[in-house]
Amino acid sequence: MDLTKFQPTGQQVEAAARLLRYQPFILDEHRHTGVAYEWLHHDISTKSSSERYFFDRRTAGDDVWNKAFDANRRLARMYDAFIAQMANICPPGGSYLDIGCNSGYFPVQASLAGIRTAVGIDAEDFSQQFQLLNEITGSSAKFSVGAYDPRSHTIAMQSDFGLQNYDVVSASCLLCHIPDPLHFLKAIARLATKAVFLWSGFIDTAEFLVRYNPTSFSGAGFPNGFDDGTSISLSLLCLSMSKLGFAHREEITSSPDWLPEDWHLRGMPQYQKFRAFLFWR
Ligand SMILES: C[S@@+](CC[C@H](N)C(=O)[O-])C[C@H]1O[C@@H](n2cnc3c(N)ncnc32)[C@H](O)[C@@H]1O
Repeated sequence: MDLTKFQPTGQQVEAAARLLRYQPFILDEHRHTGVAYEWLHHDISTKSSSERYFFDRRTAGDDVWNKAFDANRRLARMYDAFIAQMANICPPGGSYLDIGCNSGYFPVQASLAGIRTAVGIDAEDFSQQFQLLNEITGSSAKFSVGAYDPRSHTIAMQSDFGLQNYDVVSASCLLCHIPDPLHFLKAIARLATKAVFLWSGFIDTAEFLVRYNPTSFSGAGFPNGFDDGTSISLSLLCLSMSKLGFAHREEITSSPDWLPEDWHLRGMPQYQKFRAFLFWR
């Protein structure tokens, strides 16, 4: 998202430079953010994540700046296309929930695209980021701390803003961090009255498979430590969504100006190829 379009004040740009990191934002002519440079060029080095995802043309050097700018614009174009599809299927005056929303790219853009109630939840507190992005862009996205808990297979939110369900629910790059993916699908399907959007890595086979990444087992304890690189097979995904009441689906196919389809192989070979699906009832 190009924040310069909204002519932010100097103070707002400095706040953005302090608060935004993982998702792709252009802050001004010198600075932008986003994870995609690391994904495409596997430049993890020893930098902290707050340095790795922040690029300043004046200090980065031309090569890194140009590659990072291109990578993060690709990610942004892909995100924008996903959000346009969700805005399209959301009824007028409808509602949208993004789970694992990070700094709010999806809910903010969804609000700007006309979805009346656009909410994001994340296990970490991104309320300052939401407030700032609403101030800069004029969006009205809402944030609550909230998380899917694999111990209870449920999603708990500090505030639900008076809503029990949402027309559209999304989980972008989150299923791959979930140790019990089928229960997760059930939990998000319960919240969605019309459609579910998923972007994650899936195994392309007719077998019903759940795969964990053998090299990643976090401190969350067995079995919840399997929380990076989880994938299920496409056939199991489609069966699950159909059993959960989502009889229709469309794959949002990749475009040449998005991330290349093999991006995961460059830095994260333990991941499966990422695919984007919209399921609806
Ligand atoms: C890989 S990032 C993806 C962010 C965003 N959805 C996107 O596509 O740009 C995963 C996000 O999910 C959050 N997260 C991880 N596990 C979660 C859980 N169990 N419940 C809610 N959020 C979670 C993380 O804090 C992080 O912001």
